[in-house]
Amino acid sequence: TYPNLAPRPPMGWNDWSYYMCRIDEKTVLDNARALVRTGLADKGYRTVTVDDCWMSKARGSRGELVADPQKFPHGMAYLGRQLHRMGLKFGIYEDVGTLTCEKYPGSLGHFPQDARQFAQWKVDYVKADGCNVPVAAGHTKEETYRDLYRQMSQALRDTGRPITFSVSAPAYFQYDGDSVWHRVIGWSAEVGNLWREGRDVALQQHSPAAKWSSILYNFRYNAKLADLQKPGRWNDPDFLLAGDTGLTREEIQSQMSLWAVMAAPLISSTDIARLSPQAREVLGNKKVIAVDQDALGVQGRVVQQDGGSTVLAKPLKNRDGAIALFNSGDTARTLSVTAAAAGLPDAGSYRLHDLVTGRRTHSDGTIVAPDVPPHSTVLYRVTPG
Ligand code: GLA
Ligand code: GLA
Repeated sequence: TYPNLAPRPPMGWNDWSYYMCRIDEKTVLDNARALVRTGLADKGYRTVTVDDCWMSKARGSRGELVADPQKFPHGMAYLGRQLHRMGLKFGIYEDVGTLTCEKYPGSLGHFPQDARQFAQWKVDYVKADGCNVPVAAGHTKEETYRDLYRQMSQALRDTGRPITFSVSAPAYFQYDGDSVWHRVIGWSAEVGNLWREGRDVALQQHSPAAKWSSILYNFRYNAKLADLQKPGRWNDPDFLLAGDTGLTREEIQSQMSLWAVMAAPLISSTDIARLSPQAREVLGNKKVIAVDQDALGVQGRVVQQDGGSTVLAKPLKNRDGAIALFNSGDTARTLSVTAAAAGLPDAGSYRLHDLVTGRRTHSDGTIVAPDVPPHSTVLYRVTPG
């Protein structure tokens, strides 16, 4: 099994859904500085990942990956040094196929060489995508992916540098049925620390409705995978869109709260330098982050559901529970769940702490969230007794 380099769900920033290929050194470093300046880095958002399109279209004369000299004039080692100087970690994107999704050189046939290159650049985190994977003769699609990710994983280990490994394989099997996901996520959890599943969340230029429905889709898909998560091995339902245009305060808060109760990686993809005070508050809510990062390391489960609402419960280390009550419908509703249904320890009374408003209340056995606005989530930390 790959070393346990992510005992808590990884946190950080990635350029993709906001900038796509319009990235360069300045953009990445401006965002990195903004993470530090806003205090988000101190709160855990420390891994800065450069996604697709950082490379030149061709490898160098020794077969090595080359940074695009226009976009990254000082090269990737320099970028890593700058990030490390700010106390941040350096993440980079590659692909296990012949080409990345945007058709830059993939790692296939170059795993040890690329892994050594990343280690030399002092990369701390690799996201390995799965576009353009040619199915090997006599092998199934799944065997092909499994073999390639195993090779990449071994190559990263062989460098001796601790590099958190994000595996994208499950995203490429999401339409193949749940027995397939189980297997693919099973081996993804052996070769890496986290894995992308579900779809890509909508991009910055997409409509607000598309953004919200992509969050809903990934939420629902990810909620089904709770059995496949283990402490240190994380389902990754993709980026947090807080800060992005068009989503309401309720929607960005819901995504944050739902991702936290599901112990999902918290990876923001937005322009951090231009975060609204609201978005900064949502991303920076320490109590919500603490639910995500709780030491028990358990993904919350759906404990109750109807057409317009979902309740999830996540056990926390000190016998507390985190309960998320999500109104996915279009009118305000009062939502509730019994302590028993939420799997809380049996007690005569419970103290409820609303982690967003800060309000504290009591309950004798039913956890109630009154008048939850449409698309909103109430996240309680519940303490028995
Ligand atoms: C895929 C991934 C995205 C992003 C793009 C880059 O779509 O799922 O997260 O990395 O490729 O091309
Ligand atoms: C996008 C593409 C899909 C698949 C996923 C992988 O959503 O449209 O075909 O490649 O990325 O994350």
